[in-house]
Order: sequence, then C-alpha cells, then structure tokens
Amino acid sequence: MDRNFALEFIRVTESAALASARLMGRGDGRAADQAAVDAMRRTLASVACHAVIAVGEGERDEAPMLYQGEIVGSGNGIRLSLAVDPLEGTNLCATGGPGALSVIAAAEEGNFPDMPDTYMDKIAVGAEAKGAIDIDASVEKNLRAVAEAKRKRIEDLTVVMLDRPRHEKLLAEVRRIGARIKLIGDGDISAAVATSLPDTGVDLLLGIGGAPEGVIAAAALRATGGDFQARLKPRSDDEVKRLRKLGFEKIDRKLSLEDIAKGEVMFAATGVTDGDLLKGVRFISGGALTNSIVMRSKSRTIRVIEATHRFEFKPVY
Ligand code: FBP
Repeated sequence: MDRNFALEFIRVTESAALASARLMGRGDGRAADQAAVDAMRRTLASVACHAVIAVGEGERDEAPMLYQGEIVGSGNGIRLSLAVDPLEGTNLCATGGPGALSVIAAAEEGNFPDMPDTYMDKIAVGAEAKGAIDIDASVEKNLRAVAEAKRKRIEDLTVVMLDRPRHEKLLAEVRRIGARIKLIGDGDISAAVATSLPDTGVDLLLGIGGAPEGVIAAAALRATGGDFQARLKPRSDDEVKRLRKLGFEKIDRKLSLEDIAKGEVMFAATGVTDGDLLKGVRFISGGALTNSIVMRSKSRTIRVIEATHRFEFKPVY
C-alpha cells in the first residue's frame, strides 16, 4: 500500500473527529456518531481507491452508511478492505470523557474478515512482548511472561480492561497477582494501541470487548509490531448464526494477529476527546487543532500529526 495513503487516511479521520467533537458533551452519542459517519464517508469519497467496508457501522439492514460490504472511495485505484470506526467511544464523546477517537484501518482487499457486531476476548501487548502472550494460558502466566519480556516487575505492569461486570473475576485475578490496573469506561482500541507506545505506560489490554473493535486493534498492532490474540464470544444464537454465515466455522478457535489482519496494513486515528493516545480536537479562533497518528506495517514508522484547520478555507466545517 502506497505510503501516500497515510495522509489521505488522516484526512478521513480528521474530518470525522472534527465533526463529532463539535457535539462533545451534548449527551447525544447518536448525533455525534452520525456526524462522524457522514464526515468520514464524505471524505472517503475523495480518496483514490475502490474500498469495501469489512468492519463498519453494522450490517446493511441496520446501518444506512459505512455498512459491511459498502463500496467507498472514488471508485478508481487500489482495491482495499477497510475497518472503520468513525467514533470509537460514542459515550465518551457524549459526556466529554477521555479517549474518544476516530479510526480507520486499511488492508489489501479481502485481508480483513467481515466482522459482525459481537464480542471478542482479547489480549494485546506491544512489540517488546511479542510472542510472550497466549490467550489459552492463565492470566498469571501471561503477566509473568510479559513482565519477563519487558524486564519489568509484575507489580510495575499496567493492565487495562473495560470496567464491566463481566470482568469481575479477571479483575480479582489481576489484583491477586499484583499488577497495576487501569479500568476504562469505553474505548479498547485506544487501550490496545497504547500497549505499543512507550510513553502511555500501558503494558497489556485484557478482557472482552467488541469484535469489530478487535479487528481494528489487530490492524494497529500489526503496524506497530505488537501482538494480539483473540477468541470470539458471541452473546446469542443469533450472533453464532451471523458468524457462521460470514464464514467463521470454528467459532471458539484462537485467533492470531495474522488471522485477523493479513498482509500489509495501515492504521490512522485522530483524537476526538483527550486521551492516553491522542489529544482531542481543540477549537481555536477561526478553526481547530487535531492530533492524529498514522502507521504502516511495511515500514513500522509511527507518525504523529498535529494539524491546524482553518474553517474559512474548509467551508464544510
Ligand atoms: P462504541 O463507540 O461503539 O460505543 O464502542 C465503545 C466500546 O467501549 C469499545 O471500545 C468496546 O470494544 C465496546 O464498546 C465494548 O462493548 P460494551 O460497552 O458492550 O461492553
């Protein structure tokens, strides 16, 4: 995938972040999400590619835009699969909470699975701990292996997990083992990516979250050289049926990074609200500042881009 796409995809996430950040704290997550979806779709139309949405706002009957299977982009050029989340952390944006993002991941066509809205058990680490994790092993074994790989004491590791009742046992186990814990209200893509960046202080992501978010996180970790393993956790027979229809035969099989995001991938994100990973949108006189990150598996370069947007010259905003 051409490196020039990096800037194109940043334009896409910037537009979605700018649109949703306007609605920060208004208590209307749905409106913020819609604003992000509209802006992302509009900007994608100007990117020279023929891209199929593998992970988006849902299946065709439930999402009018950026639905699974929708063709986006200008229609000409490279053929891509996209995994998008125009507003990751809808509630965070609705309440002005930390860590809402706009994200996109791209791979060559067919290299992301079509992922329905279901759950996934996840474990993610940065490059220093690649190869040290195994979702089938105990939490203690994983924490010991990651601590050893990172040459840290277990007590100095920071584990992030979603603050959910379903994690009660996992939380008690990590506390028993003695690692530090950060419970987040929402936003496990950001937490997974944070394991790969040294200044976030985050070592592992553990626990069950959205499966679509898992695909995007896996793409990001492919680009940083980190590691990720997962197991699908459908919540109902209907979700099992949907997974089967989309080609997942052995639903309880362990999924590796390469099972989820194959080939060359690119990941881009822009902060909507301030978080560990990125600063949120800041509105200034006549415009706004955005903070984005873009990375590619081919080069493993991680670029952080601060942009100043002038609304007078970008009337759409
Ligand atoms: P949304 O932006 O779609 O609300 O997702 C936020 C999120 O926290 C994800 O980061 C996470 O994977 C998922 O929701 C967890 O789902 P649930 O809130 O049902 O536990």
